[in-house]
Amino acid sequence: MSIPMTLIIFGASGDLTARKLVPSLYHLYRKKRLPDELQVLGVSRSPLSDDGFRDRLATSAREFVSNEWDETSWREFAQRLHYVAADASRPIAVEEKLRLLEDPADGRSPSASAIPGGNVSPTPSAGRRLYYLSVSPDLYAPVVDGLGTAGMTRSLGESWRRLIVEKPFGKDQSSAKAFNATLARHFEESQIYRIDHYLGKETVQNILVFRFANTLFEPLWNNNYVDHVQITVSEAVKVGSRGDYYDNSGVLRDMMQNHLLMLLTFIAMESPSRFEATALRNEKLKVLDSIAIRSLAEARDALRVGQYEGYHREKGVAPESRTPTYAALELSVENWRWRGVPFYLRTGKAMRRRMSEIVVQFRCPPHLMFKLPPDQELQCNRLSIRVQPDEGIHINFQSKVPDTPTTDLRPTDLEFSYKDAYPDHPIPEAYERLLLDALNGDASLFMRSDEIERAWAIVDPFVQVSTERSPESYPIGSDGPTGAEALLKRSGRGWLSLCR
Ligand SMILES: NC(=O)c1ccc[n+]([C@@H]2O[C@H](COP(=O)([O-])OP(=O)(O)OC[C@H]3O[C@@H](n4cnc5c(N)ncnc54)[C@H](OP(=O)(O)O)[C@@H]3O)[C@@H](O)[C@H]2O)c1
Repeated sequence: MSIPMTLIIFGASGDLTARKLVPSLYHLYRKKRLPDELQVLGVSRSPLSDDGFRDRLATSAREFVSNEWDETSWREFAQRLHYVAADASRPIAVEEKLRLLEDPADGRSPSASAIPGGNVSPTPSAGRRLYYLSVSPDLYAPVVDGLGTAGMTRSLGESWRRLIVEKPFGKDQSSAKAFNATLARHFEESQIYRIDHYLGKETVQNILVFRFANTLFEPLWNNNYVDHVQITVSEAVKVGSRGDYYDNSGVLRDMMQNHLLMLLTFIAMESPSRFEATALRNEKLKVLDSIAIRSLAEARDALRVGQYEGYHREKGVAPESRTPTYAALELSVENWRWRGVPFYLRTGKAMRRRMSEIVVQFRCPPHLMFKLPPDQELQCNRLSIRVQPDEGIHINFQSKVPDTPTTDLRPTDLEFSYKDAYPDHPIPEAYERLLLDALNGDASLFMRSDEIERAWAIVDPFVQVSTERSPESYPIGSDGPTGAEALLKRSGRGWLSLCR
């Protein structure tokens, strides 16, 4: 008989569950990839019955799974959704319902939550449990402490206990260390799955395939041939309903410390010997360890920040707020492969378009034998990895324009588009892969404590200097503040436009 398996989502009445987690689980169910025995238990304070919870999620799922929606399969899937109204910082209160799911007969016996005081360790149940922290970050430590105190964190053989933690992991290096210490009091590192959903994206994983399952580019992937690297994550959306959180966080903490640095590690890392968690995470950490930590003076010099027009009028934002909604910075990776190659990272809200892209700009030929017209500059080779939208890879190179009296050159693109190459394989939501990996015990695409702490060490000096002065204002729907151009211009380079 298979061992019961439950995904327990703390904060299940929230946005993440409705928009991402449950639609992803439903997709996995339709693809027959969910373990048969998996049940899902939602936990938050709103009073809801199981059916009330299912109805609520049906409404949001209809919207977020759109063309995949099928009433019959949803009804089958929804039988796996359950709910208990409880305070997540007292997780012992969910033990009774959990045991009922794991073993309906056992659930009728005196329950753990009925124990006076509610903090006595229950006898460990035989079920496999994946806890998901989808509450606000200030509740992470209380929930983890609550799970630990209630004896709900110990894995016993195949009856494992695992924990998924959503970003943000702290707000600087010292708070991240403190939170990691809290986690370590109750869980082994191997039980912890810290999500950076960018790593669940197919196109991000494809960076590794592109680099390490082909030989074509690897010989060029170093400071002999690469001039610089640009990593852009631009969002068209404004802060929306997250003004409160965002104003205390800002773009460097919200995006740079996690998503952009992770993209950088995939581009800059050496080949791991195996595609498994320890080898992969060791190589990512080596890249992070090689990134020079800036002094405050250096951080000032290597950073440009901006704030979109009208940000002050957003709900939850302080009227005089200096919180940046845009940041561009320069990092250097101090190792043999990358010494002297600047990595430029930029990200912002309310930009011209939603786009995540990595551009590897190769050096120009040492000598050009072709005569260019006075107004034409040679566009040197460029490789673009488009993470979203229009997922794919473009290689830009020079070609001869046919049938011209002189040898005219023009840049041309060699294109690989996911949509065209795999018309029958639509790109799945990142959470599908990550949820399945955590259920299967594969931590390759999750972050280890040392990676998180080092990433904060890199970003902390930039955060510290980012609010010293008012950020430069930029129009909504633009490429960001014009001052960001100066960061590249001083070395004769320039940002690539967002509307290519
Ligand atoms: N939304 C996203 O796309 C996204 C993306 C990346 C990371 N995250 C992270 O994921 C986490 C959840 O995000 P979210 O957007 O879903 O937040 P949210 O919409 O605010 O939902 C959090 C839920 O937690 C519940 N809650 C609050 N206090 C509780 C308590 N003491 N015990 C039990 N439940 C409690 C609330 O419901 P009740 O009032 O019913 O208790 C609320 O619905 C946050 O840490 C966020 O930073 C979210």
